[in-house]
Amino acid sequence: MMSYQGHFRVWRGDASGGRLKDFQVEVHDGEVVLDVVHRLQATQAPDLAVRWNCKAGKCGSCSAEINGHPKLMCMTRMSLFTPEDTVTLTPLRTYPVIRDLVTDVSLNYRKALDIEPFTPPAGLEPGRMRMRQADVGRSQEFRKCIECWLCQDVCHVIRDHQDNKPAYAGPRYFIRHAELDMHPLDTLDRRQALREEQGLGLCNITKCCTEVCPAGIKITDNGIIPMKERVVDHRYDPLGRLLPSWRRR
Ligand code: SF4
Ligand code: F3S
Ligand code: FES
Repeated sequence: MMSYQGHFRVWRGDASGGRLKDFQVEVHDGEVVLDVVHRLQATQAPDLAVRWNCKAGKCGSCSAEINGHPKLMCMTRMSLFTPEDTVTLTPLRTYPVIRDLVTDVSLNYRKALDIEPFTPPAGLEPGRMRMRQADVGRSQEFRKCIECWLCQDVCHVIRDHQDNKPAYAGPRYFIRHAELDMHPLDTLDRRQALREEQGLGLCNITKCCTEVCPAGIKITDNGIIPMKERVVDHRYDPLGRLLPSWRRR
C-alpha cells in the first residue's frame, strides 16, 4: 500500500476564538478526508471535535469546508490532492462554531418548524392516494436530501449577510416547499408564505447550492426556479388566482 505524510491545517478553537493548526498525518491509498481526520484524532489530537456517523455520504453529519469548499469529509477522496498539497479543514462558515469542526446548525431545525406539514384532503381514505409516476419522480428528487446543510452554508444570502438569517429559509427549505407544493394531494397554498415569510425573493439564482449538493439534487432548476414562477403567477396573474390550486399543477 502506498502512503505518504500529508500536510493538514485544521481549525482548532471554540465560540470564543481559535486558529489554524498544522499537522503532518499519514495518508494511505484510497482514503477519504474523514479517514485522515480519524487518524489525526487517534495519533495526535484526541480532543479534536468532528461530527460523523455513516461514512457513506448518507447521514449528512461530516460537513466541513475543505480548502474553502463546503463538502462532506467522508466523500472527499484524498486522491484529489497531491502529497505536496496542504489540505485545510475549517468548520462551516455560515454557522456558529461549537468546537473545532463542529458548528451549531440548530437554526435549520427551527426553520423546519416554520413549514406547514403535508396536508392531504380531509377524509381521504388510506389506499386512495394514487399518484402518477411523474408526480412521484418530482418529489422523490427532493426527498434525497440528507440535511448536510452544505447548500445552506454556501448560499451567499446568509453566508455574507448574517442579518438575513431570520427572514430566509434557504435552499434546503425551498426544495421542501417545492416537494410539498408539487404534490398533487397537498391542499395548502404555500406561495404567499414562501414570498412573505421564507425569503424566496432574496435568492438570486447563483446556483452555488446546486453545485455543492452531495445528493445531486438540482435545487435551483427543479426547485427554486419553478417555485419562483409559481409565486409570480400567484401574485401577478389574477385569472390564475381564481382557479383552484390543483388545476394549476
Ligand atoms: Fe445537503 Fe443537498 Fe439537502 Fe442541501 S439539498 S441539505 S446540499 S443534501
Ligand atoms: Fe442561494 Fe442557491 Fe439561490 S445558492 S442565491 S439559494 S440559487
Ligand atoms: Fe455520514 Fe459523512 S459521515 S455523510
